[in-house]
Amino acid sequence: MDSDLIKLVNKLQDTFANLGEYCCGELDMPQLAVVGSQSAGKSSVLETIVGRDFLPRGQGIVTRRPLVLQLIHTPASPNNPFSEYAQFMHIEKRFTDFEEVRKEIETETFRVAGQNKGISKLPISLKIYSPDVLDLTLVDLPGLTKIPVGDQPTDIEKQIRNLVLDYISKPNCVILAVSAANVDLANSDSLKLARSVDPQGRRTIGVLTKLDLMDAGTNALDILNGRVYPLKLGFIGVVNRSQQDINASLPMKDAMEHESEFFKSHPAYRNIAHRNGTKYLAKTLNQARSVLLNHIREKLPDMKAKLNTLMGQTQQELNAFGDAAFLQGDQHQGSLILKLMTQFVRDFISSIEGTSPDIS
Ligand code: GDP
Ligand code: NA
Ligand code: MG
Repeated sequence: MDSDLIKLVNKLQDTFANLGEYCCGELDMPQLAVVGSQSAGKSSVLETIVGRDFLPRGQGIVTRRPLVLQLIHTPASPNNPFSEYAQFMHIEKRFTDFEEVRKEIETETFRVAGQNKGISKLPISLKIYSPDVLDLTLVDLPGLTKIPVGDQPTDIEKQIRNLVLDYISKPNCVILAVSAANVDLANSDSLKLARSVDPQGRRTIGVLTKLDLMDAGTNALDILNGRVYPLKLGFIGVVNRSQQDINASLPMKDAMEHESEFFKSHPAYRNIAHRNGTKYLAKTLNQARSVLLNHIREKLPDMKAKLNTLMGQTQQELNAFGDAAFLQGDQHQGSLILKLMTQFVRDFISSIEGTSPDIS
C-alpha cells in the first residue's frame, strides 16, 4: 500500500523532471533533503544511509549540483546478479559498479557546473535499485558557504541559500540538518536555515557529525539529549569515515563497526548509544517517511484537483495543436509530450482513485 503510493509519486516526479520547464512543477513530492555547511559531512551521511560508496566526498566544495536520489526497493534474486544497480536520467546505461556511479556524478557535475568551483541549480537524477533500500527520495545539496572561491560569483552565499530553500521550504520535505560537532552549534547554518522554514522544528532531524573530532574533555551530550536546541524528531549523533579512512578505502561495513564501537565505549555516550549512530538514523528516517506518507495521503484530494486542472489545460493545448502528424520539429515534439502527459495524468488520477477510495 505504502509502496504503491511511493511508486506512483516517483513516477510523477520523473514525468515532471522529464518535462522540465515545459509544465509547472507545482506538485509537492515527498523528499528528504540534506542541508549543512560545506564539509559538515552531508554526502557522507547520505552514503551511509544508502549503504554504498558512490558519492563524491571530500574537503572543500565537492557537491555542486543537487543530486536527487530515488531509492527503489527491489526483491533480492539469487538468479540475478544485477538485482542491485543504478541508473541516471541523463544517460541510457545500467551501472552495477558504484565506483563508476561516483565517476559519472563527477563528470556530470563538471559538464554542467564547470571545471572550477561553480554551482548549478540543475539537478542530477539518479535511481538506485536494491534489495537493501527503502523506497525513499533523498536530495544531496551543495554546502552552505560564505566566501566565494575559484570562479564563484560574489553572491554565492545567496545563490546556494536560495537553491537549498527551493527544496526545504516545501512542507513535505523532511530536513536533515547536518552540523559538525567540532563547530559551535550556535553558528550552525543548517539549523538557522531549517528554522526559517520549519520554525516549530516539526520536520527537521538534527544530525551531528564528527563527534570523533571534538576537543578532548568536551562532548555533545546536552545537544544529543535535546537540551540545547529543540527539535521534535531530535538530534542523532554519527561518526562518518574520516578523510584518512576514505583515502585508505575503508569498507563501509568496517566504518559502521567503528562507529558502533565509538558510541558503546565512550563514557559520555555509552547510555545513549542505542539512539545514536547511522543505523538509528536510518530507523528514524523510516519514521519520518511514514509522516511524509500520511501527509501525502491528506494531500491526495488536492493533488487530484491540480492534476485535473492540468489535464484540462493540456487537452486545450492539444486541441489547439491539431493533428500532430502535420507538425514539424519542436512543435511535433511538444504535441507528443502533451499527449504522453495527458495519458500519464489520466493514469495517475485513476491510480489515486485506486489507492484512496474516499476521494471524490
Ligand atoms: P559535505 O561537504 O557536507 O558533503 O561533506 P563530506 O561528506 O564531503 O565530508 C567532508 C569531509 O569530512 C570528508 O573528508 C570526510 O571524510 C570528513 N568527515 C565527514 N564526517 C566525518 C566524521 O563524522 N568524522 C570524521 N573524522 N570525518 C568526517
Ligand atoms: Na565537502
Ligand atoms: Mg557533499
